[in-house]
Amino acid sequence: MSGENQLHGCAITGVGSYVPERVLTNADLESIVDTTDEWITTRTGIKQRRMAADNEFTSTMAAAASRKALAQAELDPAELDLIIVATITPDMPFPATACLVQQELGAAKAAAFDLEAACSGFLYALEIAQAFIIAGVHQNILIIGAEKLSSIIDWEDRNTCVLFGDGAGAAVLQRRDGARGVLATRLGSDGTKANILAMPGGGCRQPATVDSVNERIHFLKMEGKEVYKNAVTAMTAAAKEVLERSGLGIEDIKCIIPHQANMRIISAIGDRLGATEEQVFVNLQKYGNTSAASVAVALDEALQQGVVQRGDKILIIAFGAGLTWGATVLEW
Ligand code: UT7
Repeated sequence: MSGENQLHGCAITGVGSYVPERVLTNADLESIVDTTDEWITTRTGIKQRRMAADNEFTSTMAAAASRKALAQAELDPAELDLIIVATITPDMPFPATACLVQQELGAAKAAAFDLEAACSGFLYALEIAQAFIIAGVHQNILIIGAEKLSSIIDWEDRNTCVLFGDGAGAAVLQRRDGARGVLATRLGSDGTKANILAMPGGGCRQPATVDSVNERIHFLKMEGKEVYKNAVTAMTAAAKEVLERSGLGIEDIKCIIPHQANMRIISAIGDRLGATEEQVFVNLQKYGNTSAASVAVALDEALQQGVVQRGDKILIIAFGAGLTWGATVLEW
């Protein structure tokens, strides 16, 4: 929980994003699996997604997004105290992708670790980073949501392969006494539903073997309908809670940035919150679901488009595997 007993102010001083060049359209997918542009568009709203090149990784995309965020913040990487990378597609099981990003950026002073909260990871990172700053532990923190989901997609499974894309988004948080920044955050999780969205293979339960590869358990598996229902309920409840705790009504929010998984989920949440279409930022038609990168990339695009001005309130809402979810109200 944030917002109470603030010792220092914390501001987001820079935001940046990166998406790979290669575009995979719904038409392209029609030649890979038994699907249609019409099915994908009506069920999800997605028209295309970006695919990382063979020599692009979560760490390199993360570093590209970070350079932009650091430039906007006018902060030398050498001044960073901490780097948090939220991802479910680390470059390798260990070391942490955050350490690889640290090396790429030359952020020699920073501590670095990865955070695994799937599509909610960026909001989890935001809450941790701002708590460190308001408590006076650190002054300059870089948080990143980055994914190369194309590396864990089963390109023979039409239920999932049409949904996801690659990309990265980053933000720099700094101590700024007097700044308001995060007004309220609610994070949640429900491990009883861990099995409805998971990659079963590759961990210590089912390490990689010839059989595990043949059984295709090193790919993302999802019970779409279950995830959908849980997403709408949890995201709506978390958003209502942070609005109430920050003393705001939905009409006070300039821009709502929901996790970009499915247009129908986004519309259902917007309706339940009483939001207008103009308030809700959507870019999933271009990128699909980029998991931890999703709300970070959307935040960067909303800022670049001038949707949000200083002093405006932003509501970010996320949901993903775990299950995990979160909502944050920010004063920009
Ligand atoms: O980032 C984490 C959060 N993830 C999400 O938020 C995803 C949440 N879930 C969803 O977005 C939706 O459940 C999906 C988009 C995944 C699926 O939509 P749905 O309306 O729940 O469809 P469904 O699973 O009920 O499938 C309907 C039909 C099935 O055929 P039958 O059994 O009715 O004959 C599927 O086999 O659509 C079929 N189908 C497809 N058809 C053409 C599934 N995928 C495809 C496809 N193209 N790509």
